[in-house]
Amino acid sequence: MDLFRKKSVDQLVSESTPLKRTLKTFDLTMLGIGAIIGTGIFVLTGKGALTAGPALCISFLLAAVCCGFAGLCYAEFAAMAPVSGSAYSYAYLAFGELIAFVIGWDLILEYALQAATVSAGWSGYFNKLLEGFGLHLPVELTAAYGTTPGVTTYFNLPGFVIVLIITWVLSIGINQTKKTNDIMVMIKLAIIVLFIVCTVWYINPANWKPFSPYGIYTFQPGSTQPYGIVPAASIVFFSFIGFDAVSSSAEETINPNKTLPRGILISLAVSTVLYIVMTLIMTGVVPYKEFANFIDAPVAGVILETGLNWLAFVVNLGALIGMTTVMLVQLYGQSRICYAMSRDGLFPKFFGEVHPKYRTPFKGTWFFGILTAIAGGFININVLFELVNIGTLSAFIIVSAGILWMRKTQPDVHRGFRAPGVPFTPICAIIFCFILICGLNWETWVRFAIWFALGLIVYFVYSRKHSALNEPGLF
Ligand code: ALA
Repeated sequence: MDLFRKKSVDQLVSESTPLKRTLKTFDLTMLGIGAIIGTGIFVLTGKGALTAGPALCISFLLAAVCCGFAGLCYAEFAAMAPVSGSAYSYAYLAFGELIAFVIGWDLILEYALQAATVSAGWSGYFNKLLEGFGLHLPVELTAAYGTTPGVTTYFNLPGFVIVLIITWVLSIGINQTKKTNDIMVMIKLAIIVLFIVCTVWYINPANWKPFSPYGIYTFQPGSTQPYGIVPAASIVFFSFIGFDAVSSSAEETINPNKTLPRGILISLAVSTVLYIVMTLIMTGVVPYKEFANFIDAPVAGVILETGLNWLAFVVNLGALIGMTTVMLVQLYGQSRICYAMSRDGLFPKFFGEVHPKYRTPFKGTWFFGILTAIAGGFININVLFELVNIGTLSAFIIVSAGILWMRKTQPDVHRGFRAPGVPFTPICAIIFCFILICGLNWETWVRFAIWFALGLIVYFVYSRKHSALNEPGLF
């Protein structure tokens, strides 16, 4: 049988039905920003600053350029095939079932583990907020084992609980989700602008010298961890992940040809501008090496340096809200990918059953919500975020290659939006993704290879036999 059997755009679109169409450009942009701005800027900038120095803003730019090229490819696919499933569905269209399954499997890393990573960052800021009120959780329950050097921790309880609460909100329907998300994203943006306006006056240009202490890519004696602009870009790439989640809401979008590309590109542009401004301020206010003291909450370190204590509470709250919306969108994206995979027979039917009252993939949402909560509760954030990055970069590579392939093999398919500069755009996306993969630790490549091999086993043992594309009686 054909491992590379494909679906046509018409077939994909005709399969999309039961979810309610309620989302417009504004909601999609809010969904995008909601998914993008979170742990990356509030937590990982500390590690990023230590890795690249003040040149961290160039690392952000590098990651943004990579996402910009990939974002244009996602936008073309999303407008061509406005269906659930994002990169998974696009791979079905371009390359056929096996690659589609592999990418769907890969997206579990991107979405579920990402929400788990963010729940770890959320927990750090939540504990800080509690401390502000003089309250303390037992330290063992504040983070996963091995996360905080010199402190014995076992379980990230706050992260576990918040993931379950978000799962509940998602499982009862898109309308509640949309309203909650829009309000939280507005608050998050307002607090980031407040942070910028209040701290910009404290920049000391001397802190920007030397601007790039580690250059492009280097190793420090006695460390296997790479340093420099590229490795920092590989870390802060995490900050941009999420714009692609916009495309997984295609089946719930009004007029997706126009609104999906707009939602993706506007949310990416807004986040990029905010990130570059924020990182310039952060490394301008605090000498980059001092971020070692604020590795879990670098933004809080900047506020401490300025002495604006009142701002700390507001920004802590903003960080919490910001990370909540990220988890909301990621868990939403996850349940929709599984919905699509289940509809195609590659995952069990359980994941695709739409709840008769809420019109959501209720059981699938809960299944992955619980798994994510457990992963975030027990796994170290540093392991999690690197895996998310490599999983997402691989998905970007396949989507970009898909645009090249579709333009060559199916030039006449109607495209509501055409990525400019093809083949230059997807080729650049692929090159940038490979550069960022090179900046990750080799342990991450090994973990990713294991995950990939597991996926192939699942495909050949279960999915291939249950595919909806099978002719009756084949197995
Ligand atoms: N981009 C998202 C974040 O930074 C995943 O939290």
